[in-house]
Amino acid sequence: MKKIISKANKISGKPLIPGDKSISHRGLILGALASGTSEVIDILEGEDVQSTAACLQKLGVEITKSGNKTFIKGIGDKKSFNNDLVLDCGNSGTTMRVMMGVLAGMPVNATLTGDASLVKRPMKRVSAPLLEMGANFKLTNENFAPLVVTGSKLHAINYDLKIASAQIKTAIIMAAINAQGTTTITGEIGSRDHTERLLPHFGVDIDVSENKISIKGNQSLKANIVKVPGDPSTAAFWIGAASILPGSTLELENISLNPTRIGFIYALQRMGADIKTEITSSHPEPVGKITVKYSGLNGCFISKEEVPSLIDEIPLIAVLATQAHGVTEVRGAEELRVKESDRLQAVATNLEAMGCEIEIFPDGFRINGPQKLNGAEIQTFNDHRIAMAFTIAGLVAENQTTIFDAECVAVSYPNFYETLTELTK
Ligand code: S3P
Repeated sequence: MKKIISKANKISGKPLIPGDKSISHRGLILGALASGTSEVIDILEGEDVQSTAACLQKLGVEITKSGNKTFIKGIGDKKSFNNDLVLDCGNSGTTMRVMMGVLAGMPVNATLTGDASLVKRPMKRVSAPLLEMGANFKLTNENFAPLVVTGSKLHAINYDLKIASAQIKTAIIMAAINAQGTTTITGEIGSRDHTERLLPHFGVDIDVSENKISIKGNQSLKANIVKVPGDPSTAAFWIGAASILPGSTLELENISLNPTRIGFIYALQRMGADIKTEITSSHPEPVGKITVKYSGLNGCFISKEEVPSLIDEIPLIAVLATQAHGVTEVRGAEELRVKESDRLQAVATNLEAMGCEIEIFPDGFRINGPQKLNGAEIQTFNDHRIAMAFTIAGLVAENQTTIFDAECVAVSYPNFYETLTELTK
């Protein structure tokens, strides 16, 4: 599907933001393991979350829906799943990596696979700590899916995490719950902390301090209700658009304001954006209101330490940087090379196609703004965040912008283009 995007005057409104992708995955997975029936309210209807639901259903977990509620009948004390399966994780890295941790200590034999993008993404970073715990994995070319997991008895480890990835961290935590002894994780543990926040909600004892996570083994989960707030990484597209289109105003409600997720808002505020947040409830996740009024942007420096809190928003930051006055530089973001696409390359290719000068580094980029963008043909590389970021670029570009394979937005935001039409009306 091709989408043609024209220059917009402004965006304004009060869009409903779909449920947070990370919390939706975790709600399903924790519900699947718990004893009793869990309820996930306002789950994201995107394809990635559907991949997690489909894998769990194939494993034998009963998942039903009624209105905005998803019910998950967990396996509880049975602690076993259907066996000898092929589980298709689609485009979803979170599904594959977290399920590796879940299945590692279960009496199950399963092959995990995914689409053309997912089978190119590194998985050894997840299997390595799990192997140390006694798990059995066979990876294609020692790093990729399709991969086979044969569950076994696990033991606790002390793991020094070198990559600030919530997917790896969550996989280790999920395996640790099934292991003998107390697992500790140190090092790069500052990525999104939804798993750490949700586990106590499901009755699991997990100790989190600034430098260390400790999880006792052989724990059981108890069913609970998870209310999924709006996804800040999805809201980011409208926040970004309102920050570069003069006259824009935006009100967003019920958005996750988890500090590990809103580095984008902090960075934009530093760039001079007029963004206000107000927390309306805090348990188990801070949730609240965001208001945005257009105000011009200045360039800023985004460091390695900030990257985990805005990792998914970096392609959008590149687009916004073209409209900001002065230099914007992002460093320490080499992880972008192994996302749904090589996002640094995708940003460079598409901004250059729009006539923008960008200096690209192995771990980031530098853009000296403001620069005029010209409408161009955008290659999405089937990456939802590239499609959405360059749709926002199209709103400020001269002439028309064509987004190829725009249907990939359904991975995280199926109604993205409908909402765009409403906000630019
Ligand atoms: C996610 C973690 C992040 C993020 C992804 C979702 C999660 O990936 O990019 O969209 O739900 O745990 P990494 O763990 O690779 O940083």
